[in-house]
Amino acid sequence: MFDVGKIREDFPILSRKVYGKPLVYLDNAATGQKPRRVIDCERRLYEEFNGNVHRGVHFLAEQSTEMYEQARERVRAFIGASSREEIIFTAGATSAVNTVAYSYGELAFRPGDNIVVSEMEHHSNIVPWQIVCGRKGVEIRVLPFDDKGRLMEERLPELLDSRTKLVAVTQASNVLGTMPHLDGIIKAAHEAGAVVLVDGCQGVVHGGVDVSKLGCDFYVFSGHKLYAPNGIGVLYGRRELLEAMPPFLGGGDMVHKVSFAGTTFGDLPLKFEAGTANYIGAICLGEAMEYLKGIGLDAIAAYENGLLKQAMERLGAIKGLTIYGTTQGKCGIVSFNVEGIHPLDVGMILDKLGIAIRTGAHCADPVMAHYGVQGMARASLAFYNTPEEIDALADGIERAARMLR
Ligand code: ALA
Repeated sequence: MFDVGKIREDFPILSRKVYGKPLVYLDNAATGQKPRRVIDCERRLYEEFNGNVHRGVHFLAEQSTEMYEQARERVRAFIGASSREEIIFTAGATSAVNTVAYSYGELAFRPGDNIVVSEMEHHSNIVPWQIVCGRKGVEIRVLPFDDKGRLMEERLPELLDSRTKLVAVTQASNVLGTMPHLDGIIKAAHEAGAVVLVDGCQGVVHGGVDVSKLGCDFYVFSGHKLYAPNGIGVLYGRRELLEAMPPFLGGGDMVHKVSFAGTTFGDLPLKFEAGTANYIGAICLGEAMEYLKGIGLDAIAAYENGLLKQAMERLGAIKGLTIYGTTQGKCGIVSFNVEGIHPLDVGMILDKLGIAIRTGAHCADPVMAHYGVQGMARASLAFYNTPEEIDALADGIERAARMLR
């Protein structure tokens, strides 16, 4: 059974104090804390197994290569991909989106084409498209959301036409917590002949994904939000697309043969993994996934939903507080503002109480523009948070409101 007290013991940082107060960590959408199993894995890799992958015949190189490829298999299984060749390790979600934008853009985008991007995307699923589309003469069409934070999927058909090459959409908004109905979006996009890239950064954390069932063409996420180290991420792509796409970065490990007369590129997945891979990060990501599977993704989602309900009720009852994103089925992200008070001030007072939240535009300026605000305060939940921490957050906001008014 889900025992949050026991789970918290797996995360050393959760027992530290901040300004003499117990840490209440509610900035999980920015980065997740690391379980001891992942921390120990990283230390052990450097102490016992460190050798560069895919290069040496020596013992350490062979062992770390084997562990790296086993990590790829763990990721494949975790997200339900059909083959390991479809799993590309990247530096993070941002570099994964940039890889698709550059490489798929190179393959498929022509002047006069268009793509659709949802209004609730993180900058990392907007700006790479703007760069490529600007260069290629491709129009970006925006799929809007309503004031509750619901993505208006029903508007998609009017944005799609025979020149639509791609739809970029999040599995879960990092500001609103909204989880769009991806099935309908993917179906409509495919009927129009467009491919779909799903940003899974927040979604994979709150309940996981099965990319084969979902039927998306590309799926990206970062390891650090999934309780793994920083600097590792994943690009899933359907095999035939990745095979057709030109490489993004050139360098070692992604080639068959190099000569000044011409170079032949390697097969998947290495074609998209130029340079020394972050094999330590990848192996630790695999370890984090095993840890999460051990607890159970459904149990995690159910527990987080209970916390979310509590947070929505407690924060929703605070006078003058507006919650942004109130759709059914949203994930554990609660962005808010308190009337007449700057979100940064709320964040600073909560910090002094030991409570870590994020404030600002959350790398989502279009979402801020939608609501006509400069910024928001955001509490984002993880399965190691407790009902007492949600109460501490609500009490802290009330205290900040009293002080600042
Ligand atoms: N994308 C991360 C966030 O929303 C950093 O906080």
